[in-house]
Formats: sequence, C-alpha cells, structure tokens
Amino acid sequence: MFDRELYGKRIDWFRKARFGMFIHWGIYAIPGRGEWVKSIERIPDEAYGKYFDEFNPVAYEPVKWAKLAKRAGMKYAVLTAKHHDGFCLFDSKLTEYKSTTCCGRDLVKEFLEAFRHEGIRVGLYYSLLDWHHPDYPKYGDLHHPMRENPAYEKEKIDFSNYLAYLHGQVEELCTRYGKLDILWFDFSYGEMCGEKWEASRLVKMIRKYQPDVIIDNRLEVSGSGFGSIVTNDPSDFCGDFVSPEQIIPPKGIYCEDGSPAVWEACITLNNSWGYVQRDRNFKPADMVIKKLVECVSKGGNLLVNVGPDARGIIPEESEKILKEVGGWMERNAESIYGCGLCDIEKPDYGRITGKGNKIYYHVMEAQVGYIPLYGVKKEQIKKIRLLSDLTELQIEDIWIVRNYPDMVFVSLGESPLLPDCHDTVIEVELMR
Ligand code: GLC
Repeated sequence: MFDRELYGKRIDWFRKARFGMFIHWGIYAIPGRGEWVKSIERIPDEAYGKYFDEFNPVAYEPVKWAKLAKRAGMKYAVLTAKHHDGFCLFDSKLTEYKSTTCCGRDLVKEFLEAFRHEGIRVGLYYSLLDWHHPDYPKYGDLHHPMRENPAYEKEKIDFSNYLAYLHGQVEELCTRYGKLDILWFDFSYGEMCGEKWEASRLVKMIRKYQPDVIIDNRLEVSGSGFGSIVTNDPSDFCGDFVSPEQIIPPKGIYCEDGSPAVWEACITLNNSWGYVQRDRNFKPADMVIKKLVECVSKGGNLLVNVGPDARGIIPEESEKILKEVGGWMERNAESIYGCGLCDIEKPDYGRITGKGNKIYYHVMEAQVGYIPLYGVKKEQIKKIRLLSDLTELQIEDIWIVRNYPDMVFVSLGESPLLPDCHDTVIEVELMR
C-alpha cells in the first residue's frame, strides 16, 4: 500500500536538490563504443571477456569526481553499480564478474566514500538486464547480444536463479555499503517488467534495509512511460519518481489527480552514456544551465551524465562544461535548490522558478529597455535583487512604461547585453 505521508517525507530532499550527476562507467569504456556495444555488435560473452581481463582504471580517483560534482552545484550522484553487460563495480559475493576480481578495487565503495565526504548524496544504478548471467533469457529476447543466435534457441535456463542473483545483489548493495539515498533501476521492457522481477518482494526487502532510499520508476517502465506512480492506484513497486530520458517533458509531468508528479530528466552531456571516444558532440554549458532552469521551472530535477574513460578519468570537455555550470550556480543556486514551478505564465524572455515568497525571473534574452516582471503587483513586492550580486533593483516608473501601470518593470542598466549571458536571475521577494 502506497503511504503518501511516508512518501512525502522521503522525497523531500530530492525535490529540493534538483541537480545531480549520473555516472556511466564500466568495462565498456575500453571498446569506447557505448554501454550497449555488447548488444548492438552481438558480442559473445567469451569475446567480451577480454575487456574484463584488461580493465584496470589506474587513474580512478573518485574524490576528483566528487569535487567536480560539488563545484558544479550537484547535490547527488548516481553511479552504475552494474550495467546491462553484467559487470559489477562492487564486491559482490555472488559472482567473480566484478571489479575486485579484475582490478582489485571495490569501485562502488570508493565512489560512495568520496561523494559522501563531499556532502553529496549517493545513489546506485542497477541494471535489471544482465547479458552475462547464464540464466538471463537470450534467444528471442529484445536486447540480449545472443537474441538471434540459433545456438541459444534450445537453451534451457532457470530464470529463478537469475532472480535470486538480482535480489541477492540488491540486498548486498542495501546491506553492505551504508546508507543509500537513491536506487536507480534500469529498465523494464515487454514482459520483463514488474512482478517478472518479483518487484514487490524486491521493494519490500529494500525498504527493510534502506527505509529512506528513493527508487526510480523503472521496475515498471523504461524511460518511456510514467508508470503507476502518476495514477490513483500506484503499485508496490511504482518507485518514487518518473525518469524521462533525453527529453525534458514539454509541460512537466502531472498525476491523474492533477497534482505535479516528482520527476527527474536524465540527459547525456554528449550523445553517449558510457565513454565514447569519438562522440565529441558535447552540449555547451549555456545549454545545460538553461535545461536545468527549464526542469526546475516545470517542477523537475536534472540528472546530467558523465562517462569516464577506461583510466577512470572524466572527459576534459565534460569537466570544463560542469565547471562553467558551477560558475553560474555559485551565484544563482537559490533560484534552483528548493525551487519549483510557479503559477505564472512563462515569460517570452526566459523562465520562472519559485519557492515560498520568492519568485525568480530567469532572463535569458536581452530586452529592449525594461524587464517586465509578470504575475506580481507593485504592492505585493518587498524587494527586488539581481541575484548574482544582490544589487537592489528598483521598480521603474519612467514614462516609457507608463502605458502599463499594472505591470512591474525593472532595469538591468545601460548595456543592451545581459549581466549574465547565460541567465540573469532577478529575485523578487513578496510581502508575507
Ligand atoms: C537508456 C540506455 C542505458 C542507460 C539509461 C540511462 O536506457 O539504454 O544504457 O543506462 O538510458 O537512463
């Protein structure tokens, strides 16, 4: 039974955090053709094993990753503990297909310690799919590397063995790595969803060991579909947030009862989750800042992905972008953290976020003359500040705006350019 009061308590920090780091990392960084390379190129397990044998991330220093996330203004981070290829970045007692076997390091343990030390909340991504486990469906599956290999057509598997493995590993993660803030499952498809994973029993076990952890909605769906969390009849495994992928919901996401849903858009910085050496299609910092503001203005979070290489180093482009985003966040984070959608129509020059008696006008397009602050009246306003340096902005009453006596206008100075080329934020504090 879905307990809305308990849900409200455990989800509160997530809704306020707004901005996180996704980290897709594993032995697929060696081929460097993405985390789906085994499926797309139909690589047999034996052939893929050479990457396991070779993986030795000598430059892995998760403290550096954690400091980058902190500098970017990210409040939480989610690392792939196991992706679809089945390689475990943690010291599972249920398999030798793990980092402690190939490189002698518990990569998850080191990640958790480093990010917690920086005061960043931690999550683990765990793939429901497993293209290494002998009892995971192969021939005829939608995604398995051997889905079309006739050698596997008559193979007999015992899926209950795989379920014991899946549940056992999740229990390991929930009992041997301290307090987890997020469990990010990926993903359900076709008949492989919900109780096929024995999801009710899985969530019950999770909640026993990690009562405050929040879970995404992919025990029910993939990045497509919202799941029963937005319905009036949420399942036991609906999760705690909707996880749109590589898209920002055009109108946000709402539940059947009309209330705003909790959601987190996950996007890549280039076009790849895992490390792809040739994918230099990185989004500029300007775009990441604007997408973060867009998510918050629609009541959601943004989870931005980095894909470290086989040495354990985050690509230089990603680092540069996140540092520039951090520069903006350093002066404007109050318009992000704890903020959400405002009942004011989106202005043509940007977006609006808000919390309590504060409204943040995100001016992304320079205006001719004076900036109209929609949705507020002069008599409601306690003070107006340029958020980046807290300079006072006064309500303008010059003849130029006198045709609009019911509107509030401020000036950002003589320059035709915005003080902040990415997003100049005006904070309006209302009388309580
Ligand atoms: C997609 C990708 C998967 C990635 C996930 C992140 O499902 O296929 O590799 O982990 O998106 O949301």
